[in-house]
Amino acid sequence: MNRARGSGPARPQETAGATVVRGATADDAAGIQALPGLSNSTLRSLDRDLATARSSEPRAPVVLVAVAASGGAAADEPIVGAAFGLLQFDEGHVLDLAVAPQHRRGGVGGALLAALDAALRGRGAVALTLEVREGNLGAQALYRRLGFTAEGGRPGYYPDGEDALLMWRRAAVDHGGG
Ligand SMILES: CC(C)(COP(=O)(O)OP(=O)(O)OC[C@H]1O[C@@H](n2cnc3c(N)ncnc32)[C@H](O)[C@@H]1OP(=O)(O)O)[C@@H](O)C(=O)NCCC(=O)NCCS
Repeated sequence: MNRARGSGPARPQETAGATVVRGATADDAAGIQALPGLSNSTLRSLDRDLATARSSEPRAPVVLVAVAASGGAAADEPIVGAAFGLLQFDEGHVLDLAVAPQHRRGGVGGALLAALDAALRGRGAVALTLEVREGNLGAQALYRRLGFTAEGGRPGYYPDGEDALLMWRRAAVDHGGG
């Protein structure tokens, strides 16, 4: 599952129906910005993250996009989701994840997370962790389905004061799992 390793071309990694997950490039900035659901901090650092995402440096951020495969030129493929991650020591952190509303519940979020897991493990992560809003039950359901468990929280973690649930996944994400 290490197909996302390194700085190679933006080749497809995981699929969900007619959707393909690949490494993001600077050309994807506008499509990513148009996705509702990404945090302000993700959007603020987007250009910088895209500039370094395809570097071979293991500590560089991982930015993946899900595109609706059109069968035509890559530029014609609309971005329907994005995932952001980072290796810190031997832990892979899921920094953000969003899927366009009209493409939700079709497996895109799970495919992005599985590809992010593979990319971070390819860089040396032995586990995956993330923070999620306590009130974001939909995202929590996705993470639980992929084997994450809640292990504590961070009170007042978000700028609006909402608490975060801290979740961990020790084994590799099995996207085929139910
Ligand atoms: C959370 C999010 C990324 C999920 O993306 P998605 O493409 O819909 O996820 P998937 O289709 O892969 O979901 C797989 C499974 O996760 C669970 N799940 C996903 N979203 C769910 C929801 N809103 N309610 C309940 N369960 C949900 C279900 O078990 C689902 O399987 P099913 O559709 O067969 O029931 C998407 O809803 C989103 O972008 N939300 C706004 C941004 C956000 O909250 N990001 C998370 C930040 S921590």
